[in-house]
Amino acid sequence: MTERVGPLTPAITDEDAGVESTLRPRRLEQYYGQERIKESLRIAIEAARQREEPLDHLLFHGPPGLGKTTLAMIVAAEMGVSIRITSGPAIERAGDLASLLTSLQAGDVLFIDEIHRLSLAVEEVLYPAMEDFSVDIILGKGPKARDVRLKLHRFTLIGATTRFALVSQPLRDRFGAAYRLEFYDEQALAQIVRRSAAVLRCRIDEGGVTEIARRSRGTARVANRLLRRVRDYAEVRADGVITREVAGAALAQLRIDELGLDEMDRELMSALAERFGGGPVGLETLAAAISEEPDTIMDVYEPYLLKIGFLQRTPRGRVLARPGYEHLGLDANSTPALQAALFDGDREIDS
Ligand SMILES: Nc1ncnc2c1ncn2[C@@H]1O[C@H](COP(=O)(O)OP(=O)(O)OP(=O)(O)O)[C@@H](O)[C@H]1O
Ligand SMILES: [Mg+2]
Repeated sequence: MTERVGPLTPAITDEDAGVESTLRPRRLEQYYGQERIKESLRIAIEAARQREEPLDHLLFHGPPGLGKTTLAMIVAAEMGVSIRITSGPAIERAGDLASLLTSLQAGDVLFIDEIHRLSLAVEEVLYPAMEDFSVDIILGKGPKARDVRLKLHRFTLIGATTRFALVSQPLRDRFGAAYRLEFYDEQALAQIVRRSAAVLRCRIDEGGVTEIARRSRGTARVANRLLRRVRDYAEVRADGVITREVAGAALAQLRIDELGLDEMDRELMSALAERFGGGPVGLETLAAAISEEPDTIMDVYEPYLLKIGFLQRTPRGRVLARPGYEHLGLDANSTPALQAALFDGDREIDS
């Protein structure tokens, strides 16, 4: 199936690929929010710099668009080292990773995005590299082939994933620290919108900033994307200045509701309510009902709906929670399934 990621979801699009590098903060002080993670990184970076050693390997996880890639680039910049960027699916063979590793300079950061998608053969090359800074390669072919252990420069691996649960235990164990990025609060999103507006040289007042921040699904990428869309609207339908009214009108036109939910969020919730009696329903079934990929639902839509308490994950499937019904203007009491699922002693599960 072709990708049907709506343009306003946190998933990355082609358009973002270009603009994101412009809007990406380069230093820790322009990276707003995530205070706990930043403080911990500041300490780790300063300690490593004092000892003149590379930083420990780091794993960043959390929903798309919260700033994992940005943070990896900032860590390299703060350490004053270069960063090599690749991704799990891009490293096809063990040999590809081995040559990448041997090309790293002392202290370099190797960033592996979607690290949960590394094949087992590739992952096995990574273990000794992370632990002992060495790789085992096979020289020659046939009966004359022999194993050689190569010493690597000391480097820092930064892994990123939207699916922490799919990162294997041996790999997890080899990271010095794992950080879970959180959804942003409105204040941090407002800072992100202000900064991006300045970079894009667009005129916006505080009302406009707040309105965009409030409807950004707690996600930095969405805030930047909404800002761009609202700017278009302001230039074409208003006098170019983004005020609360202009932002509100632009977002209404994009069918972004008061809470920042888009059509796909609402379609998912109404399908749950109307076609499955509120659930519990399995992810695959729900995905088929709304013609969406299960992975997209899990990575892109669900995390925020779970966070605001509109959706619940139970061992038997997804359940629409009471606030979700209320948001859709439906009566939760008319669905016995919700009551049953909630009072069945179901625990929330992780994936
Ligand atoms: N803390 C932040 N402060 C300011 N801007 C941010 C912050 N985090 C992210 N951004 C902005 O949001 C955009 C998306 O961030 P980024 O690409 O790092 O997300 P990601 O977590 O790597 O997403 P994905 O899982 O899709 O790879 C960046 O271009 C950057 O401009
Ligand atoms: Mg990324």
